[in-house]
Amino acid sequence: MLETDYRREFGFAPAGIFLNTAMFGLPPARATEAGAAAVRDWASGRVTLDAWALPVERARASLARLHAVEPDEVTLGANVSSLVATVAAAVPRGGVVLMSDDEFLSLTMPFENLAKPRGFLVQRVKREILSRQVAALAPAWVAASLVRPQDGQLLDHAALLAAARAVQTRVLLDISQAGWMPLTALGEADLMVGAGHKWLMGPHGTAFMISAPLARQSLLPVNAGWTARADLTLPPWERQPHAPSARGFDQSPAFLNWVVQAAALEVVEEIGVARIAAHNLDLAKRLARGLGLPIPTSPIVTVPGNADLVRRLQDAGVQHTARGGNIRLSVHLYNDSDDIDTTLRALNGN
Ligand SMILES: Cc1ncc(COP(=O)(O)O)c(C=O)c1O
Repeated sequence: MLETDYRREFGFAPAGIFLNTAMFGLPPARATEAGAAAVRDWASGRVTLDAWALPVERARASLARLHAVEPDEVTLGANVSSLVATVAAAVPRGGVVLMSDDEFLSLTMPFENLAKPRGFLVQRVKREILSRQVAALAPAWVAASLVRPQDGQLLDHAALLAAARAVQTRVLLDISQAGWMPLTALGEADLMVGAGHKWLMGPHGTAFMISAPLARQSLLPVNAGWTARADLTLPPWERQPHAPSARGFDQSPAFLNWVVQAAALEVVEEIGVARIAAHNLDLAKRLARGLGLPIPTSPIVTVPGNADLVRRLQDAGVQHTARGGNIRLSVHLYNDSDDIDTTLRALNGN
């Protein structure tokens, strides 16, 4: 199969070999340019808030299309943790929130910090038995990452959803590491939260939550600000209710971030998530094969590491994450088979 040169086509500009999208993604040229132009407009004082609101709504519409929902079901925020806090603030007193013991802190901390003051319990179990424990404990909520950031392991979300439905447990999925995969089949989760700064190639400071209407009724808009008001034509100091849609949970937008994010999301849509998944998985498989590792099911590949291997990657200009004795390599649109082969030569010492 002929490889598509997304790096050239969309003007990605990594210096060296960037295999670190699980940490943060790189913007396509049009997102970089949109951001630079927005900063210039800001500096000139010519910009209006109404103009800055447009990319925010463009991004909301993109996120809705990408997840096969209506824009009314998309809440925008600045990070995953504060969106999760809208869920944590509304867990019923005496309820249980179940999570595995290996989750990213932005998913766990809002629950753990609010458990005592709000009178609910957080239970942590091994990821392998999460679905079984849902059936046994019938918690109010179960929260899990769809793709584990440490190593790209995929959650068996079908099993989790089935177990949760049977006992009326609500399901919160963190899809921050899943922006490379088609997610429309996840419609049955009550809530999904995701960060924009990884696979969706936006800057830090964009995040979103997709909520089913029934689940949304049980949330508390603890972060909502003036842009969450029902009638945007009324002055933002006039008392009024929250928007009845998911926008009623919006944090006031960091406008510059959304300028960049909206342009990056348009590239994601233009290429299509199915093609992105195919490209990324092809490269991840090439990498895993070359390292003698099992075939990966996500673009995140983890190898046992040591200082020598880290040095060799640095010498070859390969950006990666080295943590807890492992080296995490993650591939995205700006990578190609040459990147993988150079990385393999560095790791295999040939
Ligand atoms: C699974 C997961 N969730 C969330 C985040 C980001 O959380 P926040 O937006 O709160 O920084 C990350 C990585 O940064 C992550 O890997």
